[in-house]
Amino acid sequence: MAVDYGSREERWSLAGTTALVTGGSKGIGHAIVEELAGFGARVHTCSRNGAELEECRRRWEEKNLQVTASVCDVSIRADREKLMETVRETFNGKLDILVNNAGQLLFKPTTECTVEEYSNLLTTNLESSFHLSQLAHPLLIHASIAGGGSIINMSSIGGSIGYAGSAIYATTKGAMNQLTRSLATEWASDKIRVNGIAPGFVTTDMLKDFLCGLHR
Ligand SMILES: NC(=O)c1ccc[n+]([C@@H]2O[C@H](COP(=O)([O-])OP(=O)(O)OC[C@H]3O[C@@H](n4cnc5c(N)ncnc54)[C@H](OP(=O)(O)O)[C@@H]3O)[C@@H](O)[C@H]2O)c1
Repeated sequence: MAVDYGSREERWSLAGTTALVTGGSKGIGHAIVEELAGFGARVHTCSRNGAELEECRRRWEEKNLQVTASVCDVSIRADREKLMETVRETFNGKLDILVNNAGQLLFKPTTECTVEEYSNLLTTNLESSFHLSQLAHPLLIHASIAGGGSIINMSSIGGSIGYAGSAIYATTKGAMNQLTRSLATEWASDKIRVNGIAPGFVTTDMLKDFLCGLHR
């Protein structure tokens, strides 16, 4: 006998929920924003390029997706604090889903890496996820979604496998995996789930830069 499970939208509605996705103007983050908003969530996103972000926001509005956006460089502490304040005001003090997606890749021989590059990647990829999770904690505690609040950390296959030429990037993602495990255990009692995603190669602008590096 055929079972009627209903449409995908009926089964997976996120109507009434809220999400913050960092780095939503391009690539994987852009797709996550559209997917969450497509299921009915209200989504806030950010990136550094204000013009690109506004163009995305306009296109999402045309598609009737509920997405707001603000400029934020996640490597800057004050920007992260301002971002979470905007999210708190936009979503009335509640947040259901935080996606720590914004990140950068550096593909370069380790002997040529500068202290500035090390510092930039650590703050952009790792410190931002740690601090935004801290800032989001009081909002996620009030999550209305079934099962409690949720943090998704965008790691990488590079966080567990060695690739020559990506030592700093791999270090940030390996540490992010451990941050994910630590917060998952620490915040389980607050009904906040913390999970990581570790994609392989996805054809985004970031990957194009990576492949250019391979062929140099
Ligand atoms: N593509 C892959 O194959 C792959 C594989 C494994 C993991 N990942 C991870 O997936 C995530 C997204 O990667 P992607 O391939 O989608 O990259 P992407 O196409 O380069 O997009 C990155 C997004 O993050 C934003 N961003 C970058 N630095 C930022 C900063 N300091 N502050 C705020 N926003 C920032 C970018 O906008 P602005 O530049 O305007 O700020 C853009 O919206 C990253 O964490 C990456 O490590 C990607």
